Order: sequence, then C-alpha cells, then structure tokens
Amino acid sequence: MAVGEMKTVEWRGKPVWILKRSPEMVASLKKTDGVVADPKSERTPDALTPAYARNEHRSIKPEYLVAVGICSHLGCSPTSKFAEGAQPNLPDDWAGGFLCPCHGSTFDLAGRVFKNKPAPDNLEVPRHMYLSDNKLIIGKDEKGEA
Ligand code: FES
Repeated sequence: MAVGEMKTVEWRGKPVWILKRSPEMVASLKKTDGVVADPKSERTPDALTPAYARNEHRSIKPEYLVAVGICSHLGCSPTSKFAEGAQPNLPDDWAGGFLCPCHGSTFDLAGRVFKNKPAPDNLEVPRHMYLSDNKLIIGKDEKGEA
C-alpha cells in the first residue's frame, strides 16, 4: 500500500479499514493524545481492542491502522477526514481522522474517540496478525479466532 492510502475490506459483513499512516499521521497521534477519551484503550472492552492495540497507535505496527469502520455509538459508518485544519463540522485544529456524520462523533487517526462525543468507545480493532510484511489476516491472531 502507498503511504497515506486506506483500503476497506469486508470481514463478517463489516467494513474493515486498513490505513497506511504516513510519519506525519503517526506524529499527529501525539497531538490528539490529550483530547481523546481513552488514549491507550484501557477502558475499551476487550472485544473491541486486543492487547496489542492497547497503545497510542492502537496497532501492531505504528504505521498501520486496522479498524472496523463502524461507529461505537449507533453503528453508522464514519467518513475519513484526513485533511488537516478547519473545515465544516470539525474543530479548527483538526489533525486528521474520521467523522461520524450521524451525531458528530470524531475519531483520530488511530480510531480513538474524542472526549465529550456521543460514541462511548474507540473503534473496534479486530483480531489480526501479519503473515508477512505485506500480508495480513483479519479475524485471527496468535491466540486463535476472534
Ligand atoms: S452513530 Fe456515530 S455518532 Fe452516532
């Protein structure tokens, strides 16, 4: 995948995003650390975050985000808003992320929900593992099937 590219694949009828974050995108997670509700996914239920995603970038490899593209509020599909800066429905200091159009929840580039939004949790990171540098399996990890 190219740097900055996002692919959506289907897994068990759900959209799963695979985003190859640029170094700038990874760096933006430092900026959003203080304004997201659960920075290290500590309170996000186990079913939504395997142990290897309980970190700032919510992933095994810092550059790859693998997340289910379904809002943890009422299940709408957030849209990608990767451009930084002021734009409709987003704060002026927007660092890139996702916007759920249904009730305005926003998520950063690690799928971490911002504070004081209707969505209660970060986006789900499905169990996954790398078979090689560019091959990924979703729904299964070293511990077995999801
Ligand atoms: S479904 Fe996403 S904010 Fe309500």
